[in-house]
Amino acid sequence: MAKETLTITDNRTGKTYEVPIENGCIRTNALRQIKVSEEDFGLMGYDPAFLNTANCKSAITFIDGDKGILEYRGYPIEQLAEKSSFIEVAYLLLNGELPTPKQLEEFNYLVTHHTYVHENIKTFMDGYRYDAHPMSMLSSTVAALSGFYPDAKNTKDERSRRIQMTRLIAKMPTIAAFSYRHSMGLPYVYPDNDLSYVGNFLAMIRKIGTTTYKVHPTLEKALDVLFILHADHEQNCSTTSVRTVGSSEVDPYSAVAAGIGALYGPLHGGANEAVLRMLREIGHVSKVPDFIKAVKTGEGEKKLMGFGHRVYKSYDPRAKVIKRVADEVFEVTGKNPLLEIAVELEKIALQDEYFVKRKLSPNVDFYSGLIYEAMGFPVEMFPVLFAIPRTVGWVTQWEEMVKDSEQKIARPRQIYTGSKRRDYVAMKDRK
Ligand code: SDX
Repeated sequence: MAKETLTITDNRTGKTYEVPIENGCIRTNALRQIKVSEEDFGLMGYDPAFLNTANCKSAITFIDGDKGILEYRGYPIEQLAEKSSFIEVAYLLLNGELPTPKQLEEFNYLVTHHTYVHENIKTFMDGYRYDAHPMSMLSSTVAALSGFYPDAKNTKDERSRRIQMTRLIAKMPTIAAFSYRHSMGLPYVYPDNDLSYVGNFLAMIRKIGTTTYKVHPTLEKALDVLFILHADHEQNCSTTSVRTVGSSEVDPYSAVAAGIGALYGPLHGGANEAVLRMLREIGHVSKVPDFIKAVKTGEGEKKLMGFGHRVYKSYDPRAKVIKRVADEVFEVTGKNPLLEIAVELEKIALQDEYFVKRKLSPNVDFYSGLIYEAMGFPVEMFPVLFAIPRTVGWVTQWEEMVKDSEQKIARPRQIYTGSKRRDYVAMKDRK
């Protein structure tokens, strides 16, 4: 029976070392024993951007990038998108099992009754200029919640953790909607406990001058499916940020605010906004070949935004579902004229050697923005629409990290490439 170990020969010393292989990995710390002398620090692994480094064990989300598989707690994303609801998927991610009817009702009641924010949050948000990007408002306001819930520092206390996690899930749509209303110069709309999670969000965005708001069922369902698709995605950049910041035992509001900052970047959740700007820049389907050429020649460092993925080296399974949702939304809103450009971009790119060789295909952000725009959201709100559902993934991953006995404060090493030791030079002696 072959041994689950790696035998390493250090050719500098001729010594060999046997390192156990666990879960398809070796513990990089096992390399420290490989030294050339007693005072040698020992070997480290070097992996900028963590291309091939597992920083945790997790039971929440499974992705197979080659096969285009995405599962939440073992359930395929396609089945959840078709048969479940966002609030039920939130329960599943948080608790590891699908809820019974009673559990779902209780969870929905809990979230619904935590949607309000302290009145001072409005004053805090009013401090922003009218044209502040809503992601900037979201990250700072979520960080500010840390000052409203000092008990959140008790991260070792399960009851306190769960209350904060519920507050974050429940209040994210409220803060998101407030940031939108602020940017439009409109009064804030308070949450309506009679509406669904998504319906309440749409009402807080759209309600003007009426006491009730009739949410269009197709749009409500479409956004609910989009929220399911965006709820978690294992160790992406923003989740890694939440885990890293959370590893210092800071409260979850501060950790999630860091995640929002990471998601804001155009290479991550900001990509859906960047896709729309790209499609508008292209302007017409006849301009697609020139744009593709510019991307391939690296002209202006253009990227095909919404394409490519660190893990998916085949079609992002979420993009397939989003394309179906897009058709349903356009039935109601009318087809987004930019769709024709997007479809042509995808068609050409999937046949072009440059993209095929690099295994670049549409990711979750390629089509989602077209839906958001058709639903009347400004592009600046697109990453906010990503952050709302991803809050469930962030808090679930954060709690898993807090409870993981193998985890401690994240503090990587470095390869020092700076100046060797040297003495201070007095000003008069400097050239
Ligand atoms: C999300 O990690 C997650 O799970 C994220 C996410 C989630 O749910 O949390 O799935 C959400 O962030 C989706 C990704 C959204 N970002 C974009 O659509 C921005 C455009 N995509 C790229 O920036 C890029 O594909 C990344 C950032 C997504 C992935 O980058 P990698 O894994 O670091 O790959 P790379 O940049 O090393 O690219 C490999 C090659 C390079 O070419 P060469 O240097 O080998 O010649 O592919 C090229 C890149 O230049 N390339 C692209 C490209 N993406 C990669 N070329 C043109 N257009 C692109 N979009």
